[in-house]
Amino acid sequence: MNRLKPDKMPRHLAIIMDGNGRWAKQRMLQRIVGHQKGVEAVRATVEECSRLGIGFLTLFAFSAENWLRPKTEVQALMALLKKYIRSEVPRMMRNNVRFGVIGNREDLPASVNREIDDAIARTAGNTGMLLTLALSYGSRQEIARAAVRLAADAVAGTVDLATVSEELFNSYLFTGGIPDPDLLIRTSGEMRISNFLLWQLAYTELYFTDVNWPEFDRTELHKALKDYQERERRFGLTSDQLRVCR
Ligand code: IPE
Ligand code: IPE
Ligand code: MG
Repeated sequence: MNRLKPDKMPRHLAIIMDGNGRWAKQRMLQRIVGHQKGVEAVRATVEECSRLGIGFLTLFAFSAENWLRPKTEVQALMALLKKYIRSEVPRMMRNNVRFGVIGNREDLPASVNREIDDAIARTAGNTGMLLTLALSYGSRQEIARAAVRLAADAVAGTVDLATVSEELFNSYLFTGGIPDPDLLIRTSGEMRISNFLLWQLAYTELYFTDVNWPEFDRTELHKALKDYQERERRFGLTSDQLRVCR
């Protein structure tokens, strides 16, 4: 396999981790077993991304729409989440990983929020990769919320409408302060965004793989990164212009 180029790593990698349920179903297992197996893939991905020097890793773990799943699955996912966050802090410390969350945290059970606060506080001093979990996250809700908060500041007089720019609006999103993703990976063969980071993905490279999330390993990650490194990101310019800039 061709080696990855360290100078061409995405600064920010975002992943829609999909296909846990189908992975389980194909093996006549309960959906939750797929989610449990998915946690192992998360662990491996976090470790490898941090080793590769990726600055920001954002994982879509639970969408605002996922609350409509059967109650037993939602409860099992919340329990798994709590267990994952608690058990991962020592590993985050070893890998110098900082932890964060985006999404409607007020929807989450109090016990999950306590683990999140604890993990954020304990890893706050780490200087390596920022691992962000998107929990109860929906991008349209995020954009609407940002608009409301910006409007409130305008009414309160702390923001002058004449100064409202893309950058300012961006700072009102959950992801304010985090650069836009360079690469988005979605597993399980679905080719849709499912209300994830709609604003932030404006110029992101998209990569889809048929592999279900529980089977997404280091080799699959390297395949995606290799593919990304071979692309030309033009941002509206022509190829010739990019060559002159380089
Ligand atoms: C992704 O796997 C994990 C979550 C959405 C929580 P799914 O649970 O969506 O798995 P499929 O898509 O049903 O196979
Ligand atoms: C997207 O997966 C959300 C997460 C991966 C957490 P879904 O499985 O919920 O997406 P759709 O509904 O099939 O598009
Ligand atoms: Mg799914």
